[in-house]
Amino acid sequence: MPFLVAVEDASVAGYVIARHAVDEAEIQNLGVDPARRRHGAGRVLVTAMLATLRERGVAAVFLEVRESNTVAQHLYAGLGFTRVGRRRHYYRFPTEDAVILRAPI
Ligand SMILES: CC(C)(COP(=O)(O)OP(=O)(O)OC[C@H]1O[C@@H](n2cnc3c(N)ncnc32)[C@H](O)[C@@H]1OP(=O)(O)O)[C@@H](O)C(=O)NCCC(=O)NCCS
Repeated sequence: MPFLVAVEDASVAGYVIARHAVDEAEIQNLGVDPARRRHGAGRVLVTAMLATLRERGVAAVFLEVRESNTVAQHLYAGLGFTRVGRRRHYYRFPTEDAVILRAPI
């Protein structure tokens, strides 16, 4: 279960968590400190995670993201993720569909 942390000025700027089994992986969570967004940390974290997963023999990475989360969807699209499905009412508070993204690595 790889867990990568971005550290800046001795404090945590962001993190990404994934899990993998055989040749497939799922990014489970990604977050960047709101005060430090739009400075490339999110892209660096996901890029580093994809490299880590590739080294572990993963061939494809999946994730779910809220349909309204266009910021994260832009980030993932720029790293080769494409939409492969939807889970209806997957999220709560508020209820919302999840978009399923996949990237070959
Ligand atoms: C999504 C998130 C991790 C992005 O982190 P970040 O460090 O700000 O992202 P980056 O600076 O690396 O930006 C990478 C790309 O994301 C997209 N992006 C980031 N912020 C954006 C914004 N406010 N509006 C539109 N696109 C945006 C852009 O495509 C950007 O590339 P560009 O700078 O070349 O345009 C951050 O906004 C976050 O923590 N959000 C809350 C948690 C979340 O949504 N996690 C993902 C759940 S699946």
